[in-house]
Amino acid sequence: MPILCEPATAAGHLLPVGGDVRAADSLQSVSQMLEADPTETLVVIGPDTPIADALTFASTLRMTRPAVGVILVRTHVDVALLTHALRAGVREVVPADDAAALVAACRRSYEISKRLVSTAPPPAEPEQAREGKVVTVFAAKGGCGKTSFAVNLGVALANEPGVRVCVVDLDLAFGDVAISVQLDPARTIVDALPMAGHLDTTGASSLLTRYKPNLEMLLAPVTPGDAEKVPPPLVGELLRVLSGIFDFVVVDTPAQFSEHVLVAMDASAHHVLLTTPDVPALKNLRITLDMLDLLSYPRQIRSVVLNRADSKVGLSLDDVERVVRWPIVAHIPSSREVPISINKGTPLMLANPSHPVSQAIGRFARQRLVTPAEAPAGRVGRSRGRRRA
Ligand SMILES: Nc1ncnc2c1ncn2[C@@H]1O[C@H](COP(=O)(O)OP(=O)(O)O)[C@@H](O)[C@H]1O
Ligand SMILES: [Mg+2]
Repeated sequence: MPILCEPATAAGHLLPVGGDVRAADSLQSVSQMLEADPTETLVVIGPDTPIADALTFASTLRMTRPAVGVILVRTHVDVALLTHALRAGVREVVPADDAAALVAACRRSYEISKRLVSTAPPPAEPEQAREGKVVTVFAAKGGCGKTSFAVNLGVALANEPGVRVCVVDLDLAFGDVAISVQLDPARTIVDALPMAGHLDTTGASSLLTRYKPNLEMLLAPVTPGDAEKVPPPLVGELLRVLSGIFDFVVVDTPAQFSEHVLVAMDASAHHVLLTTPDVPALKNLRITLDMLDLLSYPRQIRSVVLNRADSKVGLSLDDVERVVRWPIVAHIPSSREVPISINKGTPLMLANPSHPVSQAIGRFARQRLVTPAEAPAGRVGRSRGRRRA
């Protein structure tokens, strides 16, 4: 039964949503109701709730309970409002005087939620061949070196004896893992769509492209528009199955906190947060750290890595740590060999393992991931329950 947030008139005439509703007199009560009912998938926010509160609520809910649709009812609807609402993850905005539109919007939202829930991964099976670690490499600013780092990290981990690695390109719209290692993206994540909800190891293996022995890659879609076809729960399902096949699943990400990224963060045993020593990147890293704290991800699975650490840009390493308020666990030097190796299509870790950049990434892999001083997070998916209601 949908939850209707309508502070002023909660007791009186309720908005028609096409069936029974549960009335809440504040967004706080809505949160409590949602917490008490993990199966609820629709919240309608009436015109008396302040717009800023409604949008903040919607954007938080989109990350914590993506299957729950938010419909906004407003007395006046204009383009600016629609833009803000859609950006915040509101499914539809309906004029207060259009009862039929509200009923139809509720029906559509239920339909979307049903599809999202049905593609959600089933609970983890107790017996898995491997208990691989998912390692998500993220930076909330483009160009920090995520892709270069993720690919070289994949090579470094696969160099360890008996370790099987898969690199997953989760930059679904602009993925460049394939091009940076000269792989033909004949199979991509999009080919997993027909398997959603029942993906097994054979299906997942059929999606992979071999780069070298012990190192496979799951490549990003190449056709414009394909990225939107991948439902976030499918990413969770893929990572769960891949972690049963590989010792490490390294996830390269886009530069935004998309729902796909959050699903990967959920499935991860380790979060690598990259930054470069410039103010915009450091500011975005600080916001990312706050966000991860807000979402209650365990801090001990977090590594902040400073890429291009020796760039002469006026910020000392001390400045960087002071701004970020978090220890830097690895410093990767700047070198023109990195872009050169990408242009040649061979990761530096393969072309020149003794290069200072390769050495720094290899050290990080061994010290933080292969034989961490303290066990980071246990098995894959451990953090999931902390974020999801
Ligand atoms: N340590 C480094 N030294 C020099 N250039 C680097 C280094 N790391 C990354 N780069 C370059 O920075 C650019 C952006 O890197 P990329 O890995 O594509 O970033 P992202 O995936 O975060 O957008 C590329 O041209 C890459 O070659
Ligand atoms: Mg990239």
